[in-house]
Amino acid sequence: MEKVVSGIRPTGNLHLGNYFGAVKSFVKMQDEYDCKFFIADWHSLTTHPKPEDIRKSAKTILAEYLACGIDPEKAPIYIQSDVKEVLELYLYFNMNAYLGELERVTSFKEKVRKQPDNVNAGLLTYPSLMAADILMHKADKVPVGKDQEQNMEMARLFARRFNRIYEVEYFKEPESFHFNDKAVKIPGLDGSGKMGKSEGNCIYLCDDEKTLTKKVMKAVTDAGPTEPNSPKPDVIQNLFTLMEVASTPDTLDYFNEKWNTCEIRYGDLKKQLAADLCNLTRPIRERILDFQANDEYLNKVARMGAEAARETAAKTLAEVRQIIGFK
Ligand code: TRP
Repeated sequence: MEKVVSGIRPTGNLHLGNYFGAVKSFVKMQDEYDCKFFIADWHSLTTHPKPEDIRKSAKTILAEYLACGIDPEKAPIYIQSDVKEVLELYLYFNMNAYLGELERVTSFKEKVRKQPDNVNAGLLTYPSLMAADILMHKADKVPVGKDQEQNMEMARLFARRFNRIYEVEYFKEPESFHFNDKAVKIPGLDGSGKMGKSEGNCIYLCDDEKTLTKKVMKAVTDAGPTEPNSPKPDVIQNLFTLMEVASTPDTLDYFNEKWNTCEIRYGDLKKQLAADLCNLTRPIRERILDFQANDEYLNKVARMGAEAARETAAKTLAEVRQIIGFK
């Protein structure tokens, strides 16, 4: 069976955009591939050197992914810092990673702009750690967003380069699997476009119903249609797109009809949308709370995940040591 690996940056709670993007595709993939997922807590040190409570954030993410349907029996899920083997492979890749190519990575340049006072070596070598994450499990496919394509190219480059330098056919080049291509793009509530944490326009899976409803009721709208059957401006289309994922087809038809006849009342639409979003997220939120209350279970999942990851990682590292000549 083809192997899949993907890392999750622990940068905050899951929102609807994550849910309909990465998370849904992970949940689907766990039935079709030999999957491993991990929480990239070491990577997060590149931007947050002194995290508030890094273990707790990792476990929050873990609880959220489990609540969304990741089944640790099908797909081990581990915390990156529990599997030290990756560091050794990171070191070997770094020895054959060159300053020039690392400096040219767009996300590095972006970070340099964003945090000019903390341009650390970890940031520069982010792609080698990511390559180690992937190649230590010999992944065939890596589900990532489009923004990760350059890091994926680096992973393929490091795989090829390793093979060339040590004259082996050892690492296979991992393929990207872009879940964004197929997923519905979830818009934010501010009319600006995509839902995103940095945009501050998110509905989080852990939002309670009052918070969620308030956010929806405050969503940006316009003065309403003046002509029958007019095209919808982006701010309005965004609300309809959310309805497409949260509401029944009947509800969607009803409000489309109201729009087309210029009888739409945004207050009614928002109330309905809020109720439907509450229904969608309620069972997930309840499961998140259940998992979070069960620290013992979360520890067990992380431990099982780490054991599974260490098994393949240790094998790879033993072989890599042999290839380089340490043993
Ligand atoms: N860089 C990825 C992101 O920002 C997270 C990540 C780290 C990752 N290591 C990985 C993703 C390995 C896939 C495979 O989203």
